Amino acid sequence: MLQNVQRVKLDQKGDERGKLIALEALSEQMPFEIKRAYYIFDTTPGTVRGKHAHRILRQMLICVSGSCVIRCDKGDGSKPVDYLLDWPDQGLLVEGMIWHDMHHFSKGAVLLVLASEHYDLSDYIREYEQFVKEVNA
Ligand code: TYD
Repeated sequence: MLQNVQRVKLDQKGDERGKLIALEALSEQMPFEIKRAYYIFDTTPGTVRGKHAHRILRQMLICVSGSCVIRCDKGDGSKPVDYLLDWPDQGLLVEGMIWHDMHHFSKGAVLLVLASEHYDLSDYIREYEQFVKEVNA
């Protein structure tokens, strides 16, 4: 089972006009086919989103504007790790069973998520105790 969180530095193509980042599915930086994209924006100050894990889903998170923090918990007793995303060339690849939440959104932050599967409620684990049980099964 994949149980992995990884920072990915995305290749930035810059010239005098500005910067551009392109992601190709099934490349070194983007290791899965993208079936869905969603983005979180206009967040209420102090809000915490997520607070769940996925059984199958693989996701690439990129804060394309502003900043936010992704907290990842493997559920194996190790300490949760906070990942600050504060520039569009910083990807966070979250694969497998990781309890995650998103918090500390800056004003105007836009968090883009590229996902490997269509939206599927049955892939969600929303109870932390159930998550720990499945991780340690
Ligand atoms: P929710 O799971 O609460 O978002 P978060 O992961 O930030 O806590 O989703 C909010 C609403 O959006 C909920 O009604 C489900 C819907 N939604 C979709 O329809 N498709 C999607 O891909 C996602 C992520 C959410």
